Order: sequence, then C-alpha cells, then structure tokens
Amino acid sequence: MSDKIKIAVAGSGNVTLTLIKGLEFYKNSIEGLWHPKVADMTLNDMTIVAVFDIDSAKVGKKIVQAVPGCKSDFADIVIQPGIMSDTVPFHINQNGQTRSVSYEEFVKSLKSVRPDFLVNVISSGLDKTSEKYAQAALDVGCSFFNATSAKTITENTRKLFEAKGLMILGDDLMSQFGGTAFHRGMIDFMTSRGITVQKAYQLDVGGNQDTMNTMAEETRERKRNIKTESIAIESPSPFRSTAGTTEYAEQLGDSRVSYYWMEAKGFLGSAIEMDLALRTSDSTNGCNVIVDSLRAAKGLLNRKELVKSDIISSYAFKNPPKKRHIRECIKSFEDEFVSRKLIS
Ligand SMILES: NC(=O)c1ccc[n+]([C@@H]2O[C@H](COP(=O)([O-])OP(=O)(O)OC[C@H]3O[C@@H](n4cnc5c(N)ncnc54)[C@H](O)[C@@H]3O)[C@@H](O)[C@H]2O)c1
Repeated sequence: MSDKIKIAVAGSGNVTLTLIKGLEFYKNSIEGLWHPKVADMTLNDMTIVAVFDIDSAKVGKKIVQAVPGCKSDFADIVIQPGIMSDTVPFHINQNGQTRSVSYEEFVKSLKSVRPDFLVNVISSGLDKTSEKYAQAALDVGCSFFNATSAKTITENTRKLFEAKGLMILGDDLMSQFGGTAFHRGMIDFMTSRGITVQKAYQLDVGGNQDTMNTMAEETRERKRNIKTESIAIESPSPFRSTAGTTEYAEQLGDSRVSYYWMEAKGFLGSAIEMDLALRTSDSTNGCNVIVDSLRAAKGLLNRKELVKSDIISSYAFKNPPKKRHIRECIKSFEDEFVSRKLIS
C-alpha cells in the first residue's frame, strides 16, 4: 500500500466514480486501457486515500455505497466534507443541504492521509474553490491535478509547488477522444494533407450534471474560449472557429454529442466541406488521461524531474501552460513515459 500512488479526490461525481470502477476493473485486465504501463506503473500501483464532496447526500457515505460491489482496498473510505468558496451550485442547492468544513479542518483531513496528489474534479464554475484546493495541496505538501476549467496554473503557483518538490498539473482536462481532441485531430490531419481550413464550428450537447453546470453563462463563455484556442493551435494559418458546450439535454444522460462543420480549400481553391457527429460517454472519456497523467507525474516526482511536468499538462489538458500540436503532445508523452516493451 505504501508504495502505491496515493490519490485524494475533491468531488465524487461521474468522473470519480468511473475512476474508482476503473481502478478495480483494471486489476485483472488491460482491455480499453490506452497505456497499460506508464513510468513502469500499472493501475495496481494506484489507490484512493480520500474522497471529498460538499453534497450532503454524498458526504458520510462509503465509497462502496456510491459504487455498489466495489471490492477495492479503499471501498470502505467514507466521503468527507470539502471546502466551498463559491456560491453553491444550483443542482446541489436544489437537492438539499450542503456540508463543508473550514479551510483549516480540510487541510487537517487531507494531511492525515498523506496523499501524493489532490485531484480536483469538482463541478464546473467553482473557480475560487478550485484555487483554494490548489492552495490546500500546497499547504499539505502534495501535488495538484486540476480537471476543471478554473485557472490554477500560473507562473507563481508553479514556482510555489516546485519550490516544495511538488507539481501542479492543469488546466481543464482534455478527454481521450472527446469533442476537442477529435476536432484538433481532424484539423491536424487536414493540415498535414495540405488542405487549408477556413471555417469550423463544434456544437456540444450533453445530458449530465456537469453539462448542466457549464450552461451558466460565464462558465460557458470560458469553456468556449479554452476550446476554441486549443483547436486553433492545429492550423498554421488562422481560421474562423467556434467550439463550446452549447446545450443541455437531459435525455442524453452521460453521453455527449459533438456536431462539427468544417469548410476548407484544396487544389485550385476547390471546396471541401464536412458535417460530422461524434457521440461518446463523458465520464469514461477522461479516465485514461487521468490514470496516465498521475503515473507519469509520480515517475517525475520520484526522479525529481519537475521541469518535465509540461509534457504531462500538454498531453492531458485543454489549457496547459505550453500549447503544442496534439500529435507532438502524444509523441512527447509516449517517448518519455511509455515503454512499448512493457505493453503486453
Ligand atoms: N471527460 C470528462 O468527464 C471531463 C473532461 C473535462 C473536464 N472535466 C471536468 O471534471 C469535473 C468533474 O466532472 P464530473 O462529470 O465528474 O462532474 P459531476 O457534476 O458529476 O461531479 C462533480 C462533483 O463535485 C462535487 N462538488 C461540488 N462542489 C464541491 C466542492 N466545493 N468540494 C468538493 N466537491 C464538490 C459535486 O457535488 C459533485 O459530486 C468538471 O469540472 C468537469 O468540467 C471532465
């Protein structure tokens, strides 16, 4: 147990519960794993040491109650109250009470489990709270992984973490094969075939809680800017593009559908036009990236090579400190952390 990567998680929603299911399933399988071994570690080298939430319907429950049938060594961990520095999200308010603790109490609880990482997967739009969680990780002495769109990595926060031999990774998780990754891959492919992309849009529709939270105008606008900027990197010439979470449709559940339209020009200005739709499951789509990143980060922490954290952030996030082409991000990550020999 002590050699495992110890993960504390803020937010026990879709992503966390799927991650927990994955850590159990991948004890005996590699089917569906992007990289079975990263930095010489498998998913058996990862464990959950604490989970925090502020939804009173979740706080106080054991993991096994949230994920019935969970037999992992962390199944009996009780979800503890987290902190809240923003207005309570509508869906939690609507469902009932919240339970949170003071910053000092939270830091004490986090410290007691001595995590390697605090993974921030709280609801979208709680930016002050995400910043506080980053601060708590720093105060406790663990690294921080920010899946939300809050801006937690700055020159300053990086320096503070690195001065303590820790890492801050973020911001805004990029799913393995979600709307943004697919859009970037498509633009990259067209560009590599000598096609000039001129205009594009991506409209996302989802039915889960996070999509509903993203509908708040400020959050929606921020996510749209992050996605649009992330996609623009792939083309050598500027093109008109818009990408973002557009609509909440409850009937989609955890599915997300991205609709794309792209207009481009080829030889003699010939027109190329595409209409595509991509349907994926939202929560599972982020988990390969999370388990890859945490193992890679632990490898770097062990080797005290914190400067290489950019390789992980560029691979795993839509808004990393260093923005690079998606193809280069994957190559750099695999060159550094994935030994092909180890994949059986
Ligand atoms: N593929 C993906 O799933 C993906 C991709 C990119 C980004 N993200 C981001 O990851 C985050 C989590 O996504 P999700 O689908 O699990 O969301 P979710 O809505 O299912 O879960 C969020 C959880 O956080 C809890 N929470 C809210 N405020 C909290 C606080 N102050 N402290 C602790 N817990 C708190 C909520 O009660 C809920 O249980 C979101 O910010 C989302 O935008 C996910």
